[in-house]
Amino acid sequence: MYPDYLRCEYLVNPLGIDVLNPRLSWIVQSDERDQIQTAYQIIVSSSEDLIEEEKGDLWDTGKVSSDQTCHIKYNGKALEPQMYCYWKVKVWDKGDQPSKWSIIYFWSMGLLKPADWSAKWIGEPFKKRPNLIRRRIKKKSSPCPLLRKEFQIEKKIRQANVYVTALGEYELRINGKKVGDRFFTPEWTDYYQRIQYQTYDVSTLIIEGINVIGAILADGWYSGHLGPGGIYYHSHYGVNRVLMLKLNIEFSDGTYEQIVSDSSWKIFYDGPIRQADHFMGEIYNAQKEQNGWDNAGFDDTEWSEVSIDNSIKGKIVAQINEPIRIIEEIRPISVKLLKNKVHIFDLGQNIAGFCKIKLSCRNEKLVSTIKLRHGEMLNDDGSVYTTNLRRATAIDTYVISNKDEKTYHPHFTYHGFQYIQVEGLEFEPSIDTLVGCAISSDTKLSGSFECSEPSLNKLWKNILWTQRDNTISVPTDCPQRDERMGWMGDVLIFSQTSIFNMDMAAFYSKWIKDIRDMQTKDGFYPNFAPYPYNRSHAIPFAKLLPAPAWADCGITLPWDLYLNYADKKILMDHYESAKFYVNYLHSKNPNLIWKKGRSLFNPNDWLNGDKIKADDYPKKGAEIPQDVFATAFFAHSTELLSKMANVLQLIKDYEFYRNLSQKIKQKFVEEFVDSEGKIKGDTQAGYAIALKFNLLPKDLRNIAINHLKKAIEKYDNRISTGFITTIMMMLELIRNSEIELANKLLLSDRFPSWIYMINQGATTMWERWDAYVKGRGFQSRFMNSFNHYAYGAIGEFLYKIILGINLDDREPGYKHIIIKPILTGSLNWVKGYYNSIHGRIEVEWKKEKEGYEIAISIPTNTTATVYLPTEKVQNIRESDVFIKEIETIVFLKIKNKKTILKINSGKYIFKFN
Ligand code: BGC
Repeated sequence: MYPDYLRCEYLVNPLGIDVLNPRLSWIVQSDERDQIQTAYQIIVSSSEDLIEEEKGDLWDTGKVSSDQTCHIKYNGKALEPQMYCYWKVKVWDKGDQPSKWSIIYFWSMGLLKPADWSAKWIGEPFKKRPNLIRRRIKKKSSPCPLLRKEFQIEKKIRQANVYVTALGEYELRINGKKVGDRFFTPEWTDYYQRIQYQTYDVSTLIIEGINVIGAILADGWYSGHLGPGGIYYHSHYGVNRVLMLKLNIEFSDGTYEQIVSDSSWKIFYDGPIRQADHFMGEIYNAQKEQNGWDNAGFDDTEWSEVSIDNSIKGKIVAQINEPIRIIEEIRPISVKLLKNKVHIFDLGQNIAGFCKIKLSCRNEKLVSTIKLRHGEMLNDDGSVYTTNLRRATAIDTYVISNKDEKTYHPHFTYHGFQYIQVEGLEFEPSIDTLVGCAISSDTKLSGSFECSEPSLNKLWKNILWTQRDNTISVPTDCPQRDERMGWMGDVLIFSQTSIFNMDMAAFYSKWIKDIRDMQTKDGFYPNFAPYPYNRSHAIPFAKLLPAPAWADCGITLPWDLYLNYADKKILMDHYESAKFYVNYLHSKNPNLIWKKGRSLFNPNDWLNGDKIKADDYPKKGAEIPQDVFATAFFAHSTELLSKMANVLQLIKDYEFYRNLSQKIKQKFVEEFVDSEGKIKGDTQAGYAIALKFNLLPKDLRNIAINHLKKAIEKYDNRISTGFITTIMMMLELIRNSEIELANKLLLSDRFPSWIYMINQGATTMWERWDAYVKGRGFQSRFMNSFNHYAYGAIGEFLYKIILGINLDDREPGYKHIIIKPILTGSLNWVKGYYNSIHGRIEVEWKKEKEGYEIAISIPTNTTATVYLPTEKVQNIRESDVFIKEIETIVFLKIKNKKTILKINSGKYIFKFN
């Protein structure tokens, strides 16, 4: 047995953290069954030599008897800014045998307080942000400023780190090279409150001799176009783009030198990036290049002095989650000539990102202008469909004059697209002329799903792509149109699927702070976060009251993170905020029906059947009444708050909110359930949510299931639920043994359905069931994204129901696992895994000639309860031995025609009929 995959604050070898007592985690690996960790030892040293020698000068826990492998709080010597900490772990197994030491990991501390920077904000002269009340005018773009500083190094370098942030975005360059591989740094937060910085190890970039450090600044989320068009527009946080930086160089002789952003830097306003905007795209004019500006020897006498900005108040914090990177380069599957000098490239996959394109100028005037238009679909005439982008023009332009081929890509923009319309090429392109670069916050893949039904495999892939495309600093609703906001209802419903697919712990830990930053003085959460209009204009925050489900994500997400990652700290940090929100709802609605303090803008069960425009589909009858929907969430959020209080051992609060949630549930029944057990509105959504949130007493549950079935029949066995209740309905059908019906809905190719989208060629999830209907064409151009993950929440069903991987609320983080696959009639085999915080859980089942085979893998140091769908216990074999002969497989009972077993860690192959 050995410790593996050591992480500090959820990341492997993070640089520049600002947590004083970081939490350490690992997983234990073993080929043996029934293996557990009985003790551990962590040592943390201040140098590589000391850690090699096993000298924990910072912290040595000694042997600690414990099976804990995650979130162990560093409790050694106080950590200083900029220091490196090296660490390793040893574990003891059930026979008290020690493992070898793990390999060495490290983290480094960042700058911990403002004084640690000794740097200034430098850049453009200060301009006041214009008053933007309902301004719809496109921003006049100003070229990206270039900043530079030359300095001399005379001694041998041991280590160099740079700490850097900006308002707007920065690309940092040292001696002609881009520093790191991140995009859109310092990423998006509410800059009035928190501004993130990044740390880079630049030891190999700094040389003995003359060095140049340079930066390009751009608008980004800070002052570029942002948010739903038509209402709000740009410059939400400010207009002047500024940089703050500290380079710390340690020499071999133990001395240090610092280079900081200050008045000695130069700035140039007329560089080649003429426009850089997330929505509008980038304009690059190669004729404006300043050759060699980021290298030594460039003459910057014509450049201006930088301005110093002392007005910035936001707290500077270390970025705690994965950076945005190019995660995949995608070669087009075709290129076609549309008309003279207009070519259409098809990537075969809808992505968020941009293109790298190889260009040369072959016209005799020696200037070519090439435009790349990006879109998700094609018009009937074969051109790129861009009307659904609304005000996001999404065009990248290159003005070039070089005869030799060069590769270009934008620096500070991204688009949501599958097709690229390239205009102005003077030569015949090939498929290799361009490549699509998919960008995403680089969260690690943590799940996999595959089965005998190809359309479900495609569905899983489409969900995954949609997640990648919308995991860009914050969880966005869509990557293409002028919106791209962290809409919270979408996350509320998709979070569990997203956590199965990828390790979202660090990403959501950051975004939970964004949500908290936006909580109002009255206690309510916004409907998206960050909420950039807070300080400014358009709809003042105070008027935008919470929308049920959207605002409730401020309660459900921390709870999801606790369950999935056993992260109690998230609950501790968030508890008061969560309580404030529930108290707000309660104070507005003392009679326990959520009617007051609710947003006029209320998406409700967004994009449900009533929004579908298609013949052969009922016009009305899908939408759940707003008070039913809202009150269901009031009860649910209150109940989750009581559970949080329970975990945190706040007994009084636990009792109070549990009581309150029970009362809201009673009130729900009194108010909305009639004498026949029908829920007001009689919608699929109404029954789904009431069942999911356990709002009904037992006798009414069965009645509700029957009404739900009838409500589905009314739609000719089709879905009429919206964003929020669709996955709830699917899970509740299974929980209430309506397996055939759930299966039918899942695999139906009749519109509206998941498979229908796929059959129309979808490579990502659509926002609307009827985004495109053959014969009818596109839905309304005002809101029609082909890359929205809410309906992708069905991913949870693939993992939990079909693969059967479930967590146990009482032992969060999959310390105890429940394996309960539903072996549906139509699938012949299924396999997949989930990398939990305790290690990989794997399930593979297949139909045999007689009966089934299920292979299960349970991580070391965890246990599982397994539900096998058979009552013939005596016939169950594991690796060809009858289970009654295997001591460590404990038969618990038979319930609902299933045999329930308890197993410990290891790999098992069960056969039964
Ligand atoms: C977004 C959604 C969001 C909704 C709220 C839309 O414009 O794209 O995903 O949840 O607004 O109504």
